[in-house]
Amino acid sequence: SNGDPQVPKLLGFDAVPKSLADGVSVPAGYTASVLFALGDPMASGVAAYRNDGTDTDLDQRAGDHHDGMEWFGLGADGKRNDNATERGLLAMNHEATTNEKLSSYFLHADGGASSLPRAAGEVDKEIDVHGISVIEIAKSAGKWSYAPGSALNFRLTPLSPIEIAGPARGCAQLITKYSPEGSTTRGTLNNCGTGKTPWGTYLTAEENWFGYFTRSATDDAARGKDKSVTALNRYGRKQGAASRHGWETGGTDDKYQRWDISRTGSSEDGRDDYRNEMNGMGFIVEIDPYDKARTARKRTGLGRFGHESAAFGKVIAGQPVSVYMGDDSRGEYIYKFVSNALWSAADANAADRMAVGNKYLDDGKLYVARFNADGTGTWVELALGNSTIAGYASYRFADAADIAINTRLAADAVGATRMDRPEWSAVNPANGEVYFTLTNNKDRSANPGSGQHALDAANPRAYTDMKGTSKQEGNPNGHLVRLKEGVSVTGFAWDVYLFGAEAGADKTRINLSALTDDQDFSSPDGLAFSKATGICWIETDDNAYTDVSNCMLLAAVAGQVGDGGKKTLSYTKTDGSKLDIVTPVGKPATADTLKRFLVGPKGCEITGWAETPDGKTIFVNIQHPGEDTGAANLTDPAKYQSQWPSNVGYGAGKRPRSATIAITKNDGGRIGT
Ligand code: FEO
Ligand code: CA
Ligand code: CA
Ligand code: CA
Repeated sequence: SNGDPQVPKLLGFDAVPKSLADGVSVPAGYTASVLFALGDPMASGVAAYRNDGTDTDLDQRAGDHHDGMEWFGLGADGKRNDNATERGLLAMNHEATTNEKLSSYFLHADGGASSLPRAAGEVDKEIDVHGISVIEIAKSAGKWSYAPGSALNFRLTPLSPIEIAGPARGCAQLITKYSPEGSTTRGTLNNCGTGKTPWGTYLTAEENWFGYFTRSATDDAARGKDKSVTALNRYGRKQGAASRHGWETGGTDDKYQRWDISRTGSSEDGRDDYRNEMNGMGFIVEIDPYDKARTARKRTGLGRFGHESAAFGKVIAGQPVSVYMGDDSRGEYIYKFVSNALWSAADANAADRMAVGNKYLDDGKLYVARFNADGTGTWVELALGNSTIAGYASYRFADAADIAINTRLAADAVGATRMDRPEWSAVNPANGEVYFTLTNNKDRSANPGSGQHALDAANPRAYTDMKGTSKQEGNPNGHLVRLKEGVSVTGFAWDVYLFGAEAGADKTRINLSALTDDQDFSSPDGLAFSKATGICWIETDDNAYTDVSNCMLLAAVAGQVGDGGKKTLSYTKTDGSKLDIVTPVGKPATADTLKRFLVGPKGCEITGWAETPDGKTIFVNIQHPGEDTGAANLTDPAKYQSQWPSNVGYGAGKRPRSATIAITKNDGGRIGT
């Protein structure tokens, strides 16, 4: 603190120990309670969730795998009020559903089919648990609850009509049976992280959408020399790829057949051609959480890739609006969208919020990041005006729509920096610096083979012994980078803010941020700055460290780019030669700058972070507890990996459920103080 006794010290709580317990632990003096779990009713007349696989109407209930989440305040009139602290809407993503051998077994009484074809009834339920939820919540007598029958509640699913907006609207690659004009698409899918616009709308990021589509083993030849084959290969759908759930086998209706992107017209009108279906997924989608009647819009100007989330730079009147985004796959890139329109402060409170979105998100420039070895970086514009893109031999771009849809190929053309899986980004309100989690990358190597990624200054760690027992390759623990804009017109400065590691790991090669048992973590993923306290909240989604602790939430007090000087990481390659990587780094962590705040139940990821504007409540999502249970154990609750949240008295049945929790401080103070 600044010496003022009225201002509580940040990170004044006692660190929460690492834990393998099947529950949520928070510091002494805090309370975490379950607010909204998979299957909870969202409309009046919908029955309580039985949680035994017999529930239906899943498009009127909470979806599965709660992920990114944002708070939107409500006044007494039920309308937007940015100052509200005890009534609001929570908008959240439902990314996926726990599955094994096709079926999402927790959703079906008998676990569902493990081979094709899938039954329509099972497919319908699995489709319906994807998408987004908006729920009304309120605090009464110190306790948060949601309103199951609120008229403000709504769901979007992979079947909801969504408009295409921005440069790709109406282009040939988006023409489908559903939309012969290429102007709409059906649904949003694999909604991962989020963003909140400065004008009060919700952004949802479509991440691993490609895995839901199947492509026949002979599709390359069927498509001839069409460049779509290059694009499909780049976007994770080589011919012969099977779909995650086999939804394409659910029946003859379009809502099933669309998942087979090799299927072409067999009907009389010849229009049941699904070859472009997948091009309608992979975008940032804008939703007005205050108006469920308003059609959501896919903002194609922000590019198409494995979108993790979207973070706005601080808006300044008369300056462009910028949005930072990561593409979460191994070796993928970091992007920035910059509006052509200049920010007008009046737009923050405009009545027609989607029109403001049209203004700032449909017309602008898209850039990809190149990280240089000297601690500087360059934003490279992805446009046909760039001769490297116009002349790219591997893929001939036709126009701006083509770049908006096949963004990864344009970024390949300009030699962007391949990162260790860019997950969430967040902007430090104190100084505008942009933080990205780089969760892990098993393909990073000092001796890169085919398909692997060479070390560079921004992705400087790869050891075969980072995890002492399991000898995981590459960078299994991940790190966070941060960028300082404005160093030059298209340039930035950067450093590695923190390195994930086990506390006991070698501090010269692996535990480079000197983490202790009170703060060690692995695989950072979710990321948010509190506007109330300035605390940087870091969430984990780990595989390398879950033998030691379930996933967690940490609170950090961030410094600034370059405050830790430089470190040299020395490698000996297999041919005996030396490789020194010099990288700018943040300060080592201390008890005042990084502390574990929460550990979740077994098998979960901690994700989604939202706060009330007074900083006195935070909302966090517990995603897929018990995800390693396995369909064979469905009949015996004793064998479930997790029974959370039923083991804390929430809801019927013992099947584990993704859920939102609300965390308050017992003395009514701000969270993290
Ligand atoms: Fe949905 Fe990259 O996490
Ligand atoms: Ca994530
Ligand atoms: Ca992750
Ligand atoms: Ca997950």
